[in-house]
Parts: sequence; C-alpha cells; structure tokens
Amino acid sequence: MRIAIVGASGAVGQEFLRILEQRALPIDELLLFGSERSAGRTYRFRGRELTVKLLQHNDDFRGVDFALVSAGAGTSREFAGTITRHGTVMIDNSSAFRMDEEVPLVVPEVNAADAKNAPRRIIANPNCTTIQMVVALQAIERLSHIRRAHVATYQSASGAGAAAMDELTAQHAALAGGAEPPVSKFAFQLAYNVIPHIDIFQDNDYTKEEMKMYHETRKIMHSDI
Ligand SMILES: NC(=O)c1ccc[n+]([C@@H]2O[C@H](COP(=O)([O-])OP(=O)(O)OC[C@H]3O[C@@H](n4cnc5c(N)ncnc54)[C@H](OP(=O)(O)O)[C@@H]3O)[C@@H](O)[C@H]2O)c1
Repeated sequence: MRIAIVGASGAVGQEFLRILEQRALPIDELLLFGSERSAGRTYRFRGRELTVKLLQHNDDFRGVDFALVSAGAGTSREFAGTITRHGTVMIDNSSAFRMDEEVPLVVPEVNAADAKNAPRRIIANPNCTTIQMVVALQAIERLSHIRRAHVATYQSASGAGAAAMDELTAQHAALAGGAEPPVSKFAFQLAYNVIPHIDIFQDNDYTKEEMKMYHETRKIMHSDI
C-alpha cells in the first residue's frame, strides 16, 4: 500500500506520522508533501529518512492508495482534483468538503459504512470537537433519540496548529523572564488565560466553530438533533 501525507510538518501531519509508525499497516511507501516552507525537510519513518516533497499540480499521486490531507481548507480545495485524479482516495482533515453532499463525513466508531459511498474519492473527517462528542452521543442515541445537546468545549492551543503551540511556549518563556509575551496567532495572550471565542461570528450570533459542531453532528448521526 502507498500512502501520502499532505501537510506532514504540521501539528496534525506529525500526529499522522506517529500513528502510522505505531500501527502495523502494510505500507510499501510513504510520501510526504508540504509547501515550499517545509519541502526538503526530512522525517524518520520506520528507520528511514523521508524527504518532504513540494505539493504541485502534477502526477505525484499516481499509484498512491490513500492520501491523508491536513494542510488547510484552501489547499484541500485547490489540490483535491490533482490528488484524486488517478484513483487515490483523499481522506481530508480540513473543513473544505465536510458538508458536501457527495463527500461522506466519517467517524469510524459511529458511521464507518458511510465511507463506502464516496463518489468523489474524498472522505472527510469532522472538526476535532465533533468527533469526540458523537462517539459518546451515538451510544446514547441507540437507546433513545437525542433531540438536543448543550455543549461547552475547552480547547487547547494545539487546535490552532503548530505555530500556535510554539507561540504558547514562547509566551511562557517570556513571562518567566519578565518580558512582554509575543501575541500573533491568537487575538490575546493565551498563556495563563482562556479566550472564550473560536473563529468568526455568523449571522445567528454563533461562531463558525459552534455551527460546525451543529451541522457536522447532524450529518454524521443522520439525525435531526
Ligand atoms: N490541530 C488540530 O487539532 C486540528 C484538528 C482538526 C482539524 N485540523 C485541520 O487540519 C489542518 C491542518 O491543521 P494543523 O493544526 O496541522 O496546522 P499547522 O500545524 O499549521 O500545519 C499546516 C500544514 O499544512 C501545510 N501546508 C499549508 N499550506 C500548504 C500548501 N499550499 N501546500 C502544501 N502544504 C501546505 C504546512 O506545510 P508547510 O510547513 O510546508 O507550510 C503544514 O504542514 C487544518 O485544515 C485544520 O483546520 C486541525
């Protein structure tokens, strides 16, 4: 089996690498892709050095069975055609295709069978907060239909990617040294703080992050919850 990771240098991409290293999947070749920022960088996988290739509109995905894509919604939208053109199944971690009617949105513990109906050869996985919630909700749903869930989430810096995690570390170091902490990835200082707001507000006064949980949960559970 040939597998590609798109966004290998990122917070999610690095987690993909760690998990693939742990599992005994029969991987004949693993290909890593990124932008010009990480192209040429090397990572170790099963005792070998792998070099990150520049993601381009070419035939690099020919012969790749599965591409694990986690490089932001814009990149997924731009490269979906290139990635799937020769038969590769694209498993997309971004929000680009989650609500597309021709793209199944899958949490294996909840609706694995939906993955079989993927006419565009794209399978989306949901927002990280939705995933863990629906695993719990689906168990209850089997016993009794859930009409409404009240949700509060407490999300870590890692949810905003590798640069956000670095910023939190830098803020702690600056504060420990009596210096002004750097603030650029978040709207406010995150160290020793909680920011009660993720993503932009929608017309209904909920944020995009909140509405993702609402829409994605209904799609995954095939429910009017
Ligand atoms: N962090 C989470 O907990 C989480 C959870 C669920 C979903 N997601 C989603 O997963 C995606 C990645 O998140 P992340 O947290 O891993 O972000 P990240 O740490 O900022 O990493 C972004 C990755 O995307 C790559 N990339 C960006 N633009 C690219 C391009 N034009 N071509 C090729 N590669 C490109 C980057 O490569 P370079 O370094 O080469 O630029 C990097 O590897 C996002 O869509 C995010 O919403 C994240």
